[in-house]
Amino acid sequence: MSEYRVGIGWDVHRLAAGRPLILGGVTVASEFGLEGHSDADVLSHAITDAILGGAALGDIGMHFPDTDPRWKDCDSLEFLRHAQKLVEALGFRVVNVDSTVILERPKLKDYREAIRQRLAETLNLALDRVSVKFKTAEKVGPVGEGRSAEAQAVVSLHKLGSGPFHESVFPNPTA
Ligand code: C5P
Ligand code: MG
Repeated sequence: MSEYRVGIGWDVHRLAAGRPLILGGVTVASEFGLEGHSDADVLSHAITDAILGGAALGDIGMHFPDTDPRWKDCDSLEFLRHAQKLVEALGFRVVNVDSTVILERPKLKDYREAIRQRLAETLNLALDRVSVKFKTAEKVGPVGEGRSAEAQAVVSLHKLGSGPFHESVFPNPTA
């Protein structure tokens, strides 16, 4: 019997001049970058939360508090690797990742393959299990006005060899 899980993640960071714009570990050429304690990789943060969420392991701030000097300017791919190790310790494997970055500019589509590759390498997943999509906010709201960037992610997890996953929550009354 197998067990399947789904996790969801979301993040936002402010845009500021003189900061790098790093998405999924890839540096994007841009006048503005993302502010934050770590490297502010909004996409990696959303995916990290989705991985943790699938196994009900809390959220990124619980595991990597932004008050901890260890995480100052750190490479957010480390958060991804760490979250994956935590769910793997519970017997889960990350099956696939789907994600969306919402950013008014610059255009990101030319970076899609590089970002997918970096995420796939980091999570040791086949490329076709990693999806990255881009949207503008149609000039509306803080993202649309170029003040921030957001990311959303969904991750599925699979655990081999566990019992029927309904069992403990919905016991069969006729059994
Ligand atoms: O937001 P909108 O629907 O107008 O985006 C159209 C397309 O532009 C997206 O599907 C995506 O491929 C691309 N895009 C991009 N970089 C962004 C936002 C959107 O490449 N920052
Ligand atoms: Mg973040």
